[in-house]
Amino acid sequence: MKVAVIGAAGGIGQALALLLKNQLPAGSELALYDIAPVTPGVAADLSHIPTPVSVVGFAGEDPSPALEGADVVLISAGVARKPGMDRADLFNVNAGIVKSLAEKIAVVCPKAVVGIITNPVNTTVAIAADVLKKAGVYDKRRLFGVTTLDVIRSETFIGELKGKNPQDVHIPVIGGHSGVTILPLLSQVEGVEFTQEEVEALTPRIQNAGTEVVEAKAGGGSATLSMGQAACRFGLSLVKALQGEANVVECAYVEGNGEHARFFAQPVLLGKEGVEEVLSYGALSAFEQSALESMLDTLRGDIAIGEEFAAK
Ligand code: NAD
Ligand code: LMR
Repeated sequence: MKVAVIGAAGGIGQALALLLKNQLPAGSELALYDIAPVTPGVAADLSHIPTPVSVVGFAGEDPSPALEGADVVLISAGVARKPGMDRADLFNVNAGIVKSLAEKIAVVCPKAVVGIITNPVNTTVAIAADVLKKAGVYDKRRLFGVTTLDVIRSETFIGELKGKNPQDVHIPVIGGHSGVTILPLLSQVEGVEFTQEEVEALTPRIQNAGTEVVEAKAGGGSATLSMGQAACRFGLSLVKALQGEANVVECAYVEGNGEHARFFAQPVLLGKEGVEEVLSYGALSAFEQSALESMLDTLRGDIAIGEEFAAK
């Protein structure tokens, strides 16, 4: 398997590359790309870690050498939030970055499975989809918005609240990846009961967890280490599924049946072609149903912004 990390010199990219260097299956190749000139040095640095995963790094204007032959492409290229900003404020810079990377992917590795981390995810995934579509290579099974950070945060906060090992907590998080569009399904956590008060406090805590980190970093960026961990979990799940492992399920923001919106995050069964099946997220509590209904205008609006940008 060849995994390309795009934005590899950044906060997420470096953390993700370190985790992948240590956890990808033996014989895998890790290709790093970033416009920052330090990128070959990041690869050289990682290459001294004794694992059976090779690492190469490329800088400059052209991502092609990193993309050539890639099975999985994970994109965290772009700018991050500072206090007072919303994820949508990143659109002006990041939309163009994702568009040009998707144009390159369409030519160099159109069969790769692509995971988009760059914010605003609700919008950048729509941009990538329509750029790939325009190039005639879009396969909705192969494009993902990475929302795993919302899942691992939920696992952590529930573990803390209920005195459980967070690794034993499993929860679907549906919708999208910003504010009210992040909907953790607390009613579906097995073996845990929440009071209404807990649901009403924990849901917004999970929705605002990104802002919690942005404010704590006080101008130094947004979540990088937890996101590196989340992207590594998602990337490894993709690799396992592409290699034929059965029953690999992750929540991700994908183009499904369009019941709620063109793109929607929900549990997905991964397989050799990417999405094997978009799974049902089950029954919702009254609180969750109402939260779902009230997020949809925002989510659809975020998607429309991406579609309009890609159409220009
Ligand atoms: P960062 O500034 O530390 O790193 C971004 C990197 O992207 C930099 O090294 C920069 O040189 C590089 N870059 C910029 N333009 C590029 C291009 N055209 N090609 C290749 N590389 C390019 O930022 P970060 O903290 O790593 O965050 C990156 C993105 O991920 C942000 O948009 C952030 O909002 C987003 N993010 C998403 C999630 C999520 O859950 N999906 C979580 C955290 C952060
Ligand atoms: C997060 O959830 O931490 C990321 O989307 C980054 C951000 O801007 O909040």
